[in-house]
Amino acid sequence: MAPRTKILLTGATGYIGGSILNRFLARPDFQSSFDIRVLVRSPEKAPKFDALGFKSIVGSHTDEEVMVQAVSEVDIVVGLTDCDSIPAAELTIKGLKKHFEETGKQAFFIQTSGTGVYVQLTNGMYTTDVIYDDANPDQIETLAPTQPHRNVDLKILSAENEGFFKSCIVLPSLVYGVATGPLFDSGLSNPHSILIPLMCRVALDRRRAGMIGQGKNVWPNVDINEVADFYPILIEKIIQSPDTVPHGREGIYNLENDKHTSYDVAEAIGKALVALGYGDDSTPLTFTPEEEKKYFGAHVHLIGSDCRCIATRARSFGWDPKLTTADMLGGVQKEIEILIKTGKAELKHFVSGVDPGNIQVSSS
Ligand SMILES: NC(=O)c1ccc[n+]([C@@H]2O[C@H](COP(=O)([O-])OP(=O)(O)OC[C@H]3O[C@@H](n4cnc5c(N)ncnc54)[C@H](OP(=O)(O)O)[C@@H]3O)[C@@H](O)[C@H]2O)c1
Repeated sequence: MAPRTKILLTGATGYIGGSILNRFLARPDFQSSFDIRVLVRSPEKAPKFDALGFKSIVGSHTDEEVMVQAVSEVDIVVGLTDCDSIPAAELTIKGLKKHFEETGKQAFFIQTSGTGVYVQLTNGMYTTDVIYDDANPDQIETLAPTQPHRNVDLKILSAENEGFFKSCIVLPSLVYGVATGPLFDSGLSNPHSILIPLMCRVALDRRRAGMIGQGKNVWPNVDINEVADFYPILIEKIIQSPDTVPHGREGIYNLENDKHTSYDVAEAIGKALVALGYGDDSTPLTFTPEEEKKYFGAHVHLIGSDCRCIATRARSFGWDPKLTTADMLGGVQKEIEILIKTGKAELKHFVSGVDPGNIQVSSS
């Protein structure tokens, strides 16, 4: 019998992490083919992951002893906590080095970054026409190191050049949909994404949907289940034929299947708000400078940013997403209903963990 592939997944209680674990739970060969360890911060949740067949490790991704040891023991690390955390990346790299020194083998590091690396700051006033293709590493390398998430990605890519591990950096675009399945039904993982729930909460707070500027900025999007589909495909490829897996500068994997303007999202939220009785006017209204500060703080430029890319590499592996912008917009009302029903509709500031980077507003 082939040895089980040892995987460490961080961010198990998260939206994307939980969705990927659900994919493994559904596999008949889950227990026989995989030894999946999960890093969780909550000691209360840890035994519940164990009961499902995972091996929990309690700790933070900044906890050096825990992270380095946990990483050093596995064949594949899947990073899903915070794509802006330099300490998390550094400790993972340290663990990967230990693995190489102890086994002589290069483990794989599947880091989850985001298509925020491609943003142009257009303040909702226009879209741009440079489309970043992940099969074109020369083009990706033109990105400034000050782009969001790029500092962490560059740290990983630079360490990979030392030869003791291989990296695949996955860049989901705007991920949408309320996640479902055992990890969410049991309350272990967070079922909500970042941007659409945020814009719904903001709209509920001001009783009107809104956008930065005219909402003409474009972003790619992808359904949460289709994001979760990709990781097992990549992991299988790593297991079956590791030498054929594009890695390092070639190993950038965008995930998108359609695109939308910020106005499209605001319009769908506006209609849902009125349909649910939380507003009188469905027409989106541009945020005032005071509202921009109140709701988005330092991240306001990202909310009004433009992001253009295509997912060539993931599709070349057979990843075949089907859902489109119409599905995303069609799910907005249901998401608002769930946020309200589950007591999660209160306004929260834009995810404080997201580093807005140091990018400059580009001119039109
Ligand atoms: N959702 C999107 O649209 C999207 C798109 C592109 C990229 N991404 C990126 O993908 C990553 C995961 O996103 P997500 O939507 O799944 O986020 P999420 O639901 O907020 O999940 C974040 C996960 O990271 C864990 N975590 C945070 N800080 C940690 C620490 N110090 N030590 C250990 N665990 C820690 C959280 O654990 P707790 O439960 O303990 O808080 C949670 O499990 C993020 O870097 C995000 O920026 C997301």
